[in-house]
Amino acid sequence: MKRTIGVILTVGVAVLAAIVLFNTASTADKKAAPIERGRYLAKIAGCNDCHTPGYMAKNGKVDEAVWLTGDSLGWQGPWGTTYPINLRLYMQNITEEQWLQTVPKLQSRPPMPFYALQDMSQEDLVAIYRFVRSLGPAGTAAPAYLPPGVEASLPVVRFIPPPQG
Ligand code: HEC
Repeated sequence: MKRTIGVILTVGVAVLAAIVLFNTASTADKKAAPIERGRYLAKIAGCNDCHTPGYMAKNGKVDEAVWLTGDSLGWQGPWGTTYPINLRLYMQNITEEQWLQTVPKLQSRPPMPFYALQDMSQEDLVAIYRFVRSLGPAGTAAPAYLPPGVEASLPVVRFIPPPQG
């Protein structure tokens, strides 16, 4: 009888330990999952192409330490000259909640595909936010927007619209 109780207790403790271990592991996975997803999205949704210096020119071979720190390569067209902002600093200054509230209201100038962000699922927006936050703040602010007709002192990608008529 004593032996049976002993076996039951041992099995019980083992089961409990397994449950605790399993839960800890799955919580860790759940925490890591959005960050991994965010890293993946930054690569495939083009965020790095514009917001990471040299990313396009180096075929994506840029150290993650400088990812999404903004770029001084301007995009010039009828809208003026725009600069991909430093997302590492941007995300530090807003909460996850604020990010989710901001995206639907975005009306960024070209070539920022703000409509692509607006088509993203809530989970993917959270993933991008958490990934950028996990990288921490880095770099400096990108140059300020220049209205049409104002000369840019740094290199630009020039968009020349087709002639009217
Ligand atoms: C083709 C280049 C390009 C791509 C791709 C791109 N961006 Fe941008 N982004 C820009 C530029 C340029 C600006 C500055 C726009 C302006 O001055 O109005 C900008 C601005 C932003 C802003 C500030 C929005 C605002 O209007 O205040 C956020 C946030 C942002 N980008 C996030 C992202 C994310 C996240 C991705 C990837 C899903 C991404 N961008 C992809 C070029 C790009």
